[in-house]
Amino acid sequence: MSTVWTVLPYLAALALVGGTVWRWRYDKFGWTTRSSELYESRLLRLASPVFHYGILFVFVGHIVGLFVPDSWTSALGIGEHPYHLLSLYGGTAAGALTVLGIAVLLYRRRTNGPVFRATTANDKVMYLVLTAAIVLGMWAKLAHSSGNGYNYRLTIAPWLRSLFTFQPDTALMAGVPVLYQVHVVVGLVLLALVPYTRLIHIFSAPIHYLFRPYIVYRSRDVGRPGTRDDRRGWERVP
Ligand code: HEM
Repeated sequence: MSTVWTVLPYLAALALVGGTVWRWRYDKFGWTTRSSELYESRLLRLASPVFHYGILFVFVGHIVGLFVPDSWTSALGIGEHPYHLLSLYGGTAAGALTVLGIAVLLYRRRTNGPVFRATTANDKVMYLVLTAAIVLGMWAKLAHSSGNGYNYRLTIAPWLRSLFTFQPDTALMAGVPVLYQVHVVVGLVLLALVPYTRLIHIFSAPIHYLFRPYIVYRSRDVGRPGTRDDRRGWERVP
């Protein structure tokens, strides 16, 4: 069992980094979300920001929770209980936004004909793993939220950090509650899938958009020299 906690993370990292390089070299112009906004935009306009803000907060929570050692926050005088409350309310709010967002996005994808028809087998696998990772994270957290909650900062977090120094401490994962273990496995599988799915768009956040010059759109003036109205079909020969 302990090999899961060494082999899987490195395989996932290889798939993620190697796959991203491969995609850049061989499918640079297929690097897209494959947006379905043209098929349906009303639900998408609501659910997409809810999901993306939610997952962004979840991501920030993971970075803080997994990469800031317990000893650092203790040294700053932040005790276990206040930390737990912050993580419980902050993390649960972020997770709830994400769950709500993905639920509406999945509903839209299934019930809107054109959106469903544009959904490939690859997308379905991705949605399954993504939803499982989110639901399991939320489930593990809420199932272990009583008292000071489960202190993953003494087990999962140092294990994850030990991978970066190539000295994996798998013993740390041995006593971790099963829900957390399954969440971590599914989370790693999801990271491995990123380059091979539409999740690749994670690496192309539209930062440039904030700084690029405006694009000017003008309606076509009818009747000015050099323009003609946009009548459809055949034109009568004068
Ligand atoms: C190696 C990968 C991952 C590790 C080690 C990990 C670890 C954790 C831990 C320890 C928690 C519980 C926090 C708590 O009890 O307070 C958690 C919660 C959660 N995780 Fe992950 N996770 C990973 C990947 C992912 C991925 C890829 C996603 C989603 C795409 C995800 C979504 C969530 C959600 C929604 C929660 C519940 C809300 C929250 O606490 O933010 N996780 N994760």
